[in-house]
Amino acid sequence: MSEITGAAMVAGIIGRPVTHSLSPVLHNAWIEAAGLNAVYAPLAPTAAGFRALVDGLRGGVIRGVNVTIPFKEEALAVADEASDRARLAGAANLLLFRDDGTIFADNTDGLGMLGALAVQVPGFDPRAGPAVILGAGGAARGAAAAVFLAGAPEIRIVNRTADRAEALARDIGATVSAVAAEGALIGANLIVNATSLGLGGGPGPDADLAAAPKTTVVLDMVYKPLRTDFLIRAAHLGLRTVDGLEMLIRQAIPSFEAFFDQAPPAGVDVRALALRAVGESA
Ligand code: ATR
Repeated sequence: MSEITGAAMVAGIIGRPVTHSLSPVLHNAWIEAAGLNAVYAPLAPTAAGFRALVDGLRGGVIRGVNVTIPFKEEALAVADEASDRARLAGAANLLLFRDDGTIFADNTDGLGMLGALAVQVPGFDPRAGPAVILGAGGAARGAAAAVFLAGAPEIRIVNRTADRAEALARDIGATVSAVAAEGALIGANLIVNATSLGLGGGPGPDADLAAAPKTTVVLDMVYKPLRTDFLIRAAHLGLRTVDGLEMLIRQAIPSFEAFFDQAPPAGVDVRALALRAVGESA
């Protein structure tokens, strides 16, 4: 283990609960392999304590934090400055504490999604056709913002609660619209499950995947189980699939770079580590 001294660079993740977060597993494995004098710690404030905790970290007390459920929207609100992608997503998963006391908010979830697509479907082009996002919560907002910024020509939002889908579409831009489930997948280039359906092994979204072209790529943000019901159905139809674990790993890379001013070291099989941590074999 690399030596951790009083001069250690400190980063972490704020969420509640944070116990099952994979981020400490990923970042600490990279820290160790790079031989950095650094630590990445989990922090779980109460709902009322989030802002006091973040304000107390101002002025470079620590390098930065990732932020997860339920604090991503509040993280954006507490920041003094934010990236375009964080503003568009309406949420931040990364806060950086500058020496002058200000906080910069960013959102790397979209990079994670695009990175996972690039790794698991080489040559995938988000500009090639419509993207369909199932869901209209925070995860769906991040996904819609990412494909919007990546130049998808049309983005269709399908959600159980139509009002939420309409609000999301309005917030992101003119190419985004709320649509009914029926017919939504026709001509789709990309389909993303951004609902919580399938989490823990239950059935995924009730979407008629057979209506999608054979060239469609299906991504599930749910990563536990790794092979969700939705991805299994997609694969049976011959569609290409991308899993949520790759997305999680890919969002961690730019966070690590922002905390420690260097890329994660090559040669660490973080996917195997993460799979072990969620109780799956590699
Ligand atoms: P997150 O921030 O992780 O996206 P969220 O805001 O609670 O979490 O959103 C969960 C998403 O899953 C929503 O799109 C939700 O649909 P509603 O907006 O209609 O609530 C969707 N979802 C959850 N359970 C569902 C179910 N049983 N059937 C259909 N959609 C469901």
